[in-house]
Amino acid sequence: MGQGVHAMLAQPNHDELARQEFMLQMRKESIQVARHGSRTVYEQRVEPAFRRAQGRPPRDRHELRKAMERDFYGQFSGALRLTQQEMMWDSVGSSVERQIDDLMVTAARINKGRKRGSLRLDPTLEIPRYIGAVDIHFMPGNYDTDLQPDDVFAGALYDRGAYLRGMGGGGPLLDNAGRSLGQWLKQEYPHFKPRRILDVGCSVGHSAMGLLAEFPKAELYCIDTGAPMLRYAHARAEALGVPVHFSQQNAEKTDFVDGYFDLIVGFAMIHETSTKATHAIFREARRLLAPGGLVLHYDGPPWNRMSDFDAAVHDWDTHYNAEPFIGKVHDLDPARIVADAGFAKAKYVDVYIPSALQSGGPRGTTGSKPGMFWFFGGWR
Ligand SMILES: C[S@@+](CC[C@H](N)C(=O)[O-])C[C@H]1O[C@@H](n2cnc3c(N)ncnc32)[C@H](O)[C@@H]1O
Repeated sequence: MGQGVHAMLAQPNHDELARQEFMLQMRKESIQVARHGSRTVYEQRVEPAFRRAQGRPPRDRHELRKAMERDFYGQFSGALRLTQQEMMWDSVGSSVERQIDDLMVTAARINKGRKRGSLRLDPTLEIPRYIGAVDIHFMPGNYDTDLQPDDVFAGALYDRGAYLRGMGGGGPLLDNAGRSLGQWLKQEYPHFKPRRILDVGCSVGHSAMGLLAEFPKAELYCIDTGAPMLRYAHARAEALGVPVHFSQQNAEKTDFVDGYFDLIVGFAMIHETSTKATHAIFREARRLLAPGGLVLHYDGPPWNRMSDFDAAVHDWDTHYNAEPFIGKVHDLDPARIVADAGFAKAKYVDVYIPSALQSGGPRGTTGSKPGMFWFFGGWR
């Protein structure tokens, strides 16, 4: 399944496409090696050696990861994952660089025309250190670097890069997580009809726009801290003819009034924030929700719901893939986060939602159940 084309998408030429497709195959291969090859090596070589030396198996994911790293196969697997990640961004980055002047012109033209949605930027916004101190998952320049005035580079890089990284599992417009959530909500809670939806950490609006497709009468608001992501997101939404109100805000403290939203969502953003921020984001969601409203975040499930081996494979990203908060955040108790934010214990939600796309759902090494998105949150 190819990526859905729109006016803002950086289109690879023949050679760029060949290189990107090679990276896609290499990603599949590196996951095979990390998940399956490494499991065999662990069970047949590393675990027995550990047991012989220590008189017991590894105690937790940390001991297991370190034991794997002493084995050449573990080293090979890590090197392959890291090299693939860097080469993938490189294969997209050079293609976006070649087209950036045209993309800037297209964004400016879209901005001048009649718009369905809106864009509100805040140049004084402080980028939180947890999201700004490193280039998250080695995306060059991260989410917030402006290379020129009105820049859209980061968004263009992310749009294509996320498609390759997700190996197409997000669908042509990478909106599968949002569509899956929307379809599940309609099925499970047919009377719940959100009038205003907020997506926090929207990036370029992929998932949120899928959710809107399921609730087309709702108003959709999307926030992120990265200005070049939002400029691109706005132009992309307009190019696709979808009304979305984007603004540059920190999900820990927004400028929306109390009780403004019926549904607040986050898709794969919590693991990029700190423990303190995670708590603040849920407290802010409680303030922003109308009575009867719902907050739900999709992310990888806590470590204690998977084997130490699977946890170690995923936790590798904490140590080597510039995702410094995955380890800590997935150690937190999700029910406790929601309760600490003021939601009643009985209103806690913790659910695996089936992928709307038959061949979709979380890919890679997230530790999720195949084809299922894990969401947690609560009803107000
Ligand atoms: C992995 S991306 C999320 C993907 C996106 N939700 C989607 O559906 O495609 C994480 C995003 O969260 C944003 N982010 C992280 N911390 C944030 C915060 N405190 N407030 C707003 N956005 C934040 C980052 O800038 C980044 O764009």
